[in-house]
Parts: sequence; structure tokens; C-alpha cells
Amino acid sequence: MKRTLGVCYYPEHWPEGQWTEDAALMVKTGLSWVRIGEFAWSRLEPAPDNLQLDWLDRAIDVLGSAGLKVILGTPTATPPRWMADKHPDMFALDEEGRMRGFGSRRHYCFSHEGYLSESRRITEILAKRYGANPHIAAWQTDNEYGCHDTTLSYSDAAKHAFRDWLAQKYQSPDALNRAWGNVFWSMEYDSFDQIDLPNLTVTEPNPSHALAFRRFSSDQVVRFNREQAAIIRAHTDAPIIHNYMGRITDFDHFDVGADLDIASWDSYPLGFLEDRMEDGPQHKRAYAQQGDPDFQAFHHDLYRTVGRGRWWIMEQQPGPVNWAPVNPAPLPGMCRLWAWEAFAHGAETVCYFRWRQAPFAQEQMHAGLLRPDSAPAPALAEAAQVAQEIAQIPDVSTAKAKVALIFDYASAWAWDVQPQGRSFDYFRLVFEVYRGLRKLGLDIDILPPDTRDLSDYKLVLASGLLTLPEPLQKALQSFKGVALIGPRSNSKTAELTIPTPLPPNLPGLEATVTHVETFREDMPRAVAKGGTIRHWFEHIETTAQILEQTAEGEPLLIGAGPLRYVAGWLEETALARILQITCAELGLETIPLPDGLRLRRTATHRFAFNYSAAPVAFDGKTLEPTEVYWTELS
Ligand code: GAL
Repeated sequence: MKRTLGVCYYPEHWPEGQWTEDAALMVKTGLSWVRIGEFAWSRLEPAPDNLQLDWLDRAIDVLGSAGLKVILGTPTATPPRWMADKHPDMFALDEEGRMRGFGSRRHYCFSHEGYLSESRRITEILAKRYGANPHIAAWQTDNEYGCHDTTLSYSDAAKHAFRDWLAQKYQSPDALNRAWGNVFWSMEYDSFDQIDLPNLTVTEPNPSHALAFRRFSSDQVVRFNREQAAIIRAHTDAPIIHNYMGRITDFDHFDVGADLDIASWDSYPLGFLEDRMEDGPQHKRAYAQQGDPDFQAFHHDLYRTVGRGRWWIMEQQPGPVNWAPVNPAPLPGMCRLWAWEAFAHGAETVCYFRWRQAPFAQEQMHAGLLRPDSAPAPALAEAAQVAQEIAQIPDVSTAKAKVALIFDYASAWAWDVQPQGRSFDYFRLVFEVYRGLRKLGLDIDILPPDTRDLSDYKLVLASGLLTLPEPLQKALQSFKGVALIGPRSNSKTAELTIPTPLPPNLPGLEATVTHVETFREDMPRAVAKGGTIRHWFEHIETTAQILEQTAEGEPLLIGAGPLRYVAGWLEETALARILQITCAELGLETIPLPDGLRLRRTATHRFAFNYSAAPVAFDGKTLEPTEVYWTELS
């Protein structure tokens, strides 16, 4: 498949006379796609039912006639001001009950029926008008669900919808009381109408109540997206895409993905390093202008699965952003490297965000491919270079990896509700394992928790997986490789209560977690063969084989047949050793990589990426900073 590039464009920001020139330069740069429309509602419908779509007709025509394929976004992330008068209670409320009002974006509550019908209405108008337009080659629903903490809403609309959701799920208040253990602290309900949202309680709410609210909130996002997707689909065969955002775990991306044709995500490596990664100052300093070497790759692998093989980068950082605590410029070459890393992970398309830097409003300090005065910004030449290079590698199709890592949104919610120790973060736990694998030069597939078939894999990892669903348990029983499960896996019921038999309760592995501990950052626990355990440790009684133990002689890694259970959060050294030994057993080649170097194989090539700010020796070669080096696989 031929890979392509694109760009995000806002015709409504620029005089119409500039569109033709912009389109011509996009084409000249080698871009094939242009995404438009996702924030344009106030210009599409300046007053209720006063539709002004002629300008959009012309914009699509100008871009399409220049040879660009247009991705049209539904504008529902930015309802215009009049909507607030029409639906004054459409806004989300935060946990403290404060309104998240008009004046930026994503100011709506997913449960507000009035807004939902506005979303259906505008989607229908656009789908009808443009569904058969030959220039519209893809659709985007809304923009970055969940971004700016917008999944959870504590509004009245959410409360009523939550009650309905509970009534459907539990059928009777008694069943709900039993499932949640509401006898505790006399929290029992007689009717669903008595149940409030789990905020503004004196101390913590019942974790089962809080988790149910998280599941409900995710379902509301799924429903919102599903409605838009169904409307669009009725009018077109063009693929439907949503652009997810990095490290947002508040709703289930697999569930939303089920209604999409292609998953995409918005990749801002430097912004993410600074604003959503826990790594210390040394790491941040080392990668300040390159971005973390694994964070993007993790999301690439995740969205390849969310999109069932089809995924894009809808927004690629082009220079300094405006929203992180510090906003450096990427090293020259990084905007090219990031695109190649995405292609090597199977991205069909990489779109840069945005075409021209806006001289006004919130993102005026955010780079584009062009400066505000229309002169080229540094990333334009890099995009042009990638466009030329794409032609040289005719096929970068993905091969299945031998290693799979399970990622589960419900686990993220559960451990958020009940971390048991401040530092327990599910994303981080799984991400550290991912990083450990990647540092050994391995390719990884990320799988959802309801995976039924593991037969392609040699090594499967499930860290912090709340419950092991039936199909996964079944798949593990006939699994021929090694499954490395834990810590904290299968430790709760889906209602967030403690199951009996006690965890880990894995078929064929005789072991019981008798109690767990979390510990302070400054008191890690030593592992006998070297390295430490951080954050979390489980005391285990077992008759299974003990493969690793703590310095005090307690079981840490135990095994029986294809199953291994790890009883603690492993820090880098212990993790690397255990992964390496396990891979060696399985005949999986590992290549411990120098700092900052990462590999990724496609069906035909092996790519090496130097994320380090210094030259790195690899494969008898010196890779300069930001260098991408590919060889054909024999
Ligand atoms: C994304 C968003 C874009 C733009 C960009 C800036 O989160 O989808 O609209 O705001 O960030 O980096």
C-alpha cells in the first residue's frame, strides 16, 4: 500500500483568495490529503437553522480540484455560542459541580439529549450534502473525544442517564446493592432514582459505584460517536475516522473504534513528553527536542488494533506547540523521523497539524508548516522530503509481531478509582513493559482484553489486567508460548470487588496472593538477582516453580507451563532480565539497544530510528541524531 501525507487546514481562517494558492502549494509539497471543517460550526450555521454552506462547497471544490482528497470533520467539538442560549444546560459540570462553559472547545456533555440531537442534525446536514461529493474521501467524527478531561460530566443530564444505565444493567436496586456491597456504610438504595453521581461525597464513594460511572461515561462517548457514524454511513462509502489523543484513557477506544473504518491519533511528541509523562528531568532533558522514543510507538501499535489494521496520524506536531509547560522546537529532522516511525508501524497516512500558523486566538504560538506570513516554516521541507521518500519504499506493510501486550481501558478506570498507592497508574505500568520490550529491539502488537486468539504470538503480556475475560482465559489454555501475567492481574471482579478463590486464580497455576503492599518512592524492594520492585508488591503462597524471588526470599516470578505470574511492579533492570530470559527460552531474538535507538520491522524492512541527540553506533554504522536507517529484510 502506498503511504500518503496530508495536512489540517482551516479555510474559514483565511481570505478565500488565498485558498487556491494554499492548495497548489500543498500539492507541490507532495501532500495528498487535507482535513477541514472540524471547528467551523459558527460559520456553517451562524444562527439556528441559518445554514451558510456555500463557502464550504467552494473550499471543497478548490482543494479537490487541486488534486487533494478532503477529510471532512463534523464540527461538534465546537458548538457555537447560540447553542448555549438554546440549551443552557448542555455543558458538562466538573467534579466540584462547576460548569465547563463556552469560550474554548469541547463544551458539551455527552449525556445531554438536546445537544445529541443537534449533533445528529448537523451531521445529517453535512452527510447529505457532501456524502456523494467526489472530493470528500474520508470523514472525521468530532475532534479528540475526551481531550481536556471531557469524558466525565457531573451534570443533571449525566445523572439521569446514569440512573437509566444502571437500571438496565442491574434490573433491580437489590441486585445493584449486592453487586456493589452497599450494605457497607448503610449505602443501600431502594430505587434507582436515589443514586447520585459519585462526586461530592464526604469521603471516597464506593469504588464499585465509581467504576460503574466510568463504564457509563465511556458508553456515552461510544453512543455519541456511533450515532454520527451511522448517519454519515447512510450517505457515503468513504471511510469514517476519529482522531484520538495521546494517553487519554477515560473512554474505551476499542469500543469507539468498532464503529469506525480507520483509527487515527494526534501525535505531539514534544508536548506529550513535557505534559503527560512521569519520567524525570534527565530523561526529559535528553529527549526534549526529539520526544520520548516509545510513547508514540505505543500509540501507533494501539491504534493499529483499534482500527483493526487501518490507522493514521491525523495530526503530527510540526514545530513548537503552545500547550505544554515548555515548548521547544523539534531537532531538525524530527518531523521527518516521526512520520517514518508511524509508517513503519503501519500508518496509512500522516497529516501534519496545521498548514499555516494562526496569528490569532488560543493557538497563535503553535507552529504550522507555514509561518503566519505564509513563508515556509522548517517542517514544510521535511514534509516534502518524506513525500519524496515514500515513493522510494513501495511497500511498508506491517507484519504481525511475535509479542503481544494487552491493554484494557476498564483496568485504567479501576486502578484510577482504587490505586491503593498514589503512584499506581495503569497506563504507566503497561507502558513501562512496552518500553522494556522495545529496548530489546522487539516489535509489539497491542491487543484488547477480549482477545480470543493468541496463536500468532510467542510471548503475551498482561500487566494490571483487572479481570481476565473468559475468551482470554480460554486462549491461554491452549497457548503454545509464554504468557507473563501480573502484577495485579485478575485481582478483582468486573464490579471491583475481591473474588474468591483469591487472585491470581489462573488455571493450572497454584498460587494465592495473600496480601499486597504499595510503597513509597524512596523504599523500593530489592530483587535477589538484581534490580528492584517499585510501587506495588504481592505476597504469594505457591507450590508453582519460583523463577525469581525478592532479596528476602519471597516469590516474585512463578511459573507453570505457559503461564508466568509476576508479583510486583518491576523496575527497568529486573524487567529487562526477565524479558530477556523469557525471550531466549522462546527462541525470540532480542537486541539490547543503545540509548535512544529503536527498531521496527515491517513485512519487508527493518527501520532504525535514532532518537538520541548524539550519534549512536549500531549495526556497524554510526547513526546521526534524528537519522532513520532502513535495510531490506532477507
Ligand atoms: C490537538 C487538537 C488540534 C489542536 C492541536 C494543537 O489536540 O486536535 O485542534 O488544538 O492539538 O497541538
